Amino acid sequence: MTPVTLPTRVRDRLGRPMHDLRISVMDRCNFRCPYCMPKDTFHDRYRFLRSSERLTFEEIARVARLSVGLGVRKLRLTGGEPLLRTGLADLVGELSAIEGIEDLALTTNGVLLSNHAAELKANGLQRVTVSLDSLDEQVFEHMSGGFGGLAQVLEGIDAALEAGLAPVKVNAVVQHGVNDHTVLPLLERFRNTGVTVRLIEYMDVGNRNHWERQQVVPSRELLQQVHARWPVAPANGSRGGDVAERYAYTDGAGEIGFVSSVTAPFCGDCHRARLSSEGSLYTCLFATRGTDLRSPLRAGASDDELLVMMRAAWQQRSDRYSELRQERRADEQPLQKIEMHYIGG
Ligand SMILES: C[S@@+](CC[C@H](N)C(=O)[O-])C[C@H]1O[C@@H](n2cnc3c(N)ncnc32)[C@H](O)[C@@H]1O
Ligand code: SF4
Repeated sequence: MTPVTLPTRVRDRLGRPMHDLRISVMDRCNFRCPYCMPKDTFHDRYRFLRSSERLTFEEIARVARLSVGLGVRKLRLTGGEPLLRTGLADLVGELSAIEGIEDLALTTNGVLLSNHAAELKANGLQRVTVSLDSLDEQVFEHMSGGFGGLAQVLEGIDAALEAGLAPVKVNAVVQHGVNDHTVLPLLERFRNTGVTVRLIEYMDVGNRNHWERQQVVPSRELLQQVHARWPVAPANGSRGGDVAERYAYTDGAGEIGFVSSVTAPFCGDCHRARLSSEGSLYTCLFATRGTDLRSPLRAGASDDELLVMMRAAWQQRSDRYSELRQERRADEQPLQKIEMHYIGG
């Protein structure tokens, strides 16, 4: 087979390449996690996108294909809840066929996963990350915004393992006084299963979650707790753009990860672009503005015209919000950041 020559990677103003594209396929969600979509904002009358306002699968696949020309090698489908998007496995099939894509992953709350895991795998999905904040029924119910469904999420994880969507990861957002007392049982459940749990510091994404720094549990505190129970050591191998700092249990029971975007920002290594469900390209999770690709897509723009826009958006990028968060004064006006369910976590 003749090797494919792919164009040189585009770099932003801080020299960072564009390597990952996170695609929010759905702004709606079947949960109302208070840290992401609090019910006081995302209530029954909240105006979500109409289906005609969301990018079609064809449009998403076109942007993904073009992004490969800018350096993207890794795609992650997210939301909102991506499994609420009808026919998601068809999109997976289209994306997995794109030449140059080396990694295709999904982030989901897992409630619907057991119904879809096998088909997603068959269509080319490689890996899945399931969000699961606690194994305590009450805590889980609270953190899902009153929906519950812990048993389905666990079934979803089992189905993903059975389907071979490896490695399966579990994301747990840790909030002080909410679920921090349930972290060790969560880790225990997944020791020796091949599932890596990643403990995530609660972040100030969007403007609606009433974030307060006191609710953040610093990763180093969690690391101490974990280490006291089951000794761990930094895991071998490069971080390779992984946002998590990886540790391995010294007794061989597997790995855990810490995502410390509040206490140890990793903007310097950030190479993720995000495509919102309505087709805007964002260059930071904490962005206030995106580049509208849907209008040109629907106005008949050529691939070259779209590429020029996408390239320019990345080249102009100098975002490093998490690092700057440390320097912002308490009396400064908060930024009008885009919400996470819409831009994709
Ligand atoms: C926005 S969700 C979208 C995908 C899917 N609904 C899910 O929950 O996995 C993606 C990830 O963002 C995380 N997340 C949402 N709000 C967060 C916050 N304020 N701080 C840290 N992580 C957050 C979630 O826990 C989840 O793992
Ligand atoms: S974190 Fe995921 S499951 Fe929870 S509200 Fe946000 S999008 Fe929905």
